[in-house]
Amino acid sequence: MMANKMQAMILEWKEKAQDRNKVLQDLEVYRQVSAMDEAEKRRVSGIHDAIQKIPLRYQHKQWADFTVEHEDQRKIKTIMQRYANTYKDRMIQGNNVIFTGNYGTGKTLLSLIIYQQLVKAGFSCAYEPSLDFLRSLQEKKFAAAGVFNNAMAFYQHISFLIIDEVTEGGGKNRSLTDWESELLFKLINLRYQQQRCTLVISNRNRENLRNCLGERIYDRLADKGIPLAFNWKSYRQ
Ligand SMILES: Nc1ncnc2c1ncn2[C@@H]1O[C@H](COP(=O)(O)OP(=O)(O)OP(=O)(O)O)[C@@H](O)[C@H]1O
Ligand SMILES: [Mg+2]
Repeated sequence: MMANKMQAMILEWKEKAQDRNKVLQDLEVYRQVSAMDEAEKRRVSGIHDAIQKIPLRYQHKQWADFTVEHEDQRKIKTIMQRYANTYKDRMIQGNNVIFTGNYGTGKTLLSLIIYQQLVKAGFSCAYEPSLDFLRSLQEKKFAAAGVFNNAMAFYQHISFLIIDEVTEGGGKNRSLTDWESELLFKLINLRYQQQRCTLVISNRNRENLRNCLGERIYDRLADKGIPLAFNWKSYRQ
């Protein structure tokens, strides 16, 4: 009789332990699922924030929005689509990109379609519409070295940086001032060493761009870089 009671108690204790383990397992699954949910929420909100940072006109534009009317345009679209699809390799190779060409030919549009694809693929991207960001970097330099270094670190570590209107500086005839050239060189050089890619955009032709940026900046960009000329009529006409 005593033995039977003992056995019943052991059985009950085992069942309780199994229940308890089951509850702990369920809790662990729940914890993992909610952590995944949180990470997914953070990922989606990061993409949303990055898209909000670019000009409204280009937000949510995709490859299909870049229409093709002739061969040169098709070639450039194909090259850049392949570039975006193989971005990890492009980083390893240090493939910068140079867009030159006339007003209204879709340079900014194409660059921001790539930006949005890369952001969705988890790469950090930044778009600077002019060299003004250099001015604010420079001001930080004089205000506090720590703030300047943080800002430099930001631009250095961002995976894909687009600098639009790169030849429009604050100097005479909108040329680059000495300090703009210096800072731009420093930045492009640091990024180059870290295997981060930079896409620069200019309305000038390649020769003019080279003169304007100076050989050492141009050569850094052009070394394993992809120069593409947008030589067709403006879409704005
Ligand atoms: N291939 C294209 N398909 C459809 N729309 C285009 C195309 N290229 C340009 N556009 C449209 O034309 C306008 C001008 O394009 P975008 O701003 O990209 O030109 P840009 O080359 O950067 O000009 P700018 O040198 O003046 O800055 C935009 O509204 C853009 O959406
Ligand atoms: Mg533009």
